[in-house]
Amino acid sequence: MCQSPLHDFIKGLPKCEHHVHLEGCLTPELIFELAARNGIPLPTDPVYTSISTLSKRYEHFTSLDDFLHFYFEGMAVLRNEQDFADLAWSYFQKAHSDGVHHAEVFFDPQVHEDRGIPYETIVGGFSKGCQRAEKELGLSTRLILCFVRHLPVDSAKGVYDELVASKHFEAGVVHGLGWSSSEVGPPKDMFRDIYADAKVKGIPLTAHAGEEGDPTYISTALELGATRIDHGIRLVEDEELMKRVARQGTLLTVCPLSNVRLRCVKSVKEVPIRKFLEAGVKFSINSDDPAYFGGYILDNYCAVQEAFGLNVLEWRIIAENSVQESWIADERKAVLLERIEAHVKEYMHTLAA
Ligand code: ADE
Ligand code: ZN
Repeated sequence: MCQSPLHDFIKGLPKCEHHVHLEGCLTPELIFELAARNGIPLPTDPVYTSISTLSKRYEHFTSLDDFLHFYFEGMAVLRNEQDFADLAWSYFQKAHSDGVHHAEVFFDPQVHEDRGIPYETIVGGFSKGCQRAEKELGLSTRLILCFVRHLPVDSAKGVYDELVASKHFEAGVVHGLGWSSSEVGPPKDMFRDIYADAKVKGIPLTAHAGEEGDPTYISTALELGATRIDHGIRLVEDEELMKRVARQGTLLTVCPLSNVRLRCVKSVKEVPIRKFLEAGVKFSINSDDPAYFGGYILDNYCAVQEAFGLNVLEWRIIAENSVQESWIADERKAVLLERIEAHVKEYMHTLAA
């Protein structure tokens, strides 16, 4: 919770989350619970001694790759379809209580398949969680399949072939593709062929870029067909590219608390929120891996408010852009835009009273 007089307004503001990894919602508590439930031994590293030692370690990541080590290790406790469904449901409940009305969530099938979990178990479980959130919480949801940059392209190709064979895109089970994991190191354009094929099929594309990597990672992602950029904070280092991104209306899915925890910035004040607003760059505010970074979406909104002291109009722009750039039908957008308008009006009304 922030100290701002706008806290209640921000809490109730209808939100869209576009950048959250379902595996990044696996809390230390759930890691220990699922390890016991599935009889999976936790790593011998002493940080796994207890929930509290593991939580403490999460407060000291030194880089993206340092975090990814624990993130990939943690997800090894997910075994059965129900585990995936429970994990997704735990995220959606929290998101709902933070004022999320629409959530687009990532998952990393390559990493699970690498340890023998079938594609159907992973997608089946996560999509069950999505269906439950739609039915019981009234959220709209989108599953985005993420390729990971630290595994061979052939493994990504294998998952992509499974997606195509399953017809999950056509059936509305999986709605888009992204890429994530280690940014600097592997070839920038390693998913060129997959993205070219997906573009022809009309599959929406996003990509993690400009988190640790320089702006050429962003321009490469755009060249390959991404219509959205995850993180993208280093865009400010290239004026021309920033103008282009603003002109095209490309959404950046910014994750302030993640950027601090992974040492991409020293504090939230360094996240270029003001610069993006001034340059007309569209962005949404997101949690990335809330179980690892000490905050869900509302904590990220509050951190931005503490750092930048935005006004109601600026929050309204952020909320409306988040709806406009969501991968949902116009009818759903209209419903969410109306809710934002009603929320702003109600706030203005209480101010005037
Ligand atoms: N996978 C999960 N979180 C990530 C992040 N912040 N950057 C890249 N890959 C990720
Ligand atoms: Zn991410």
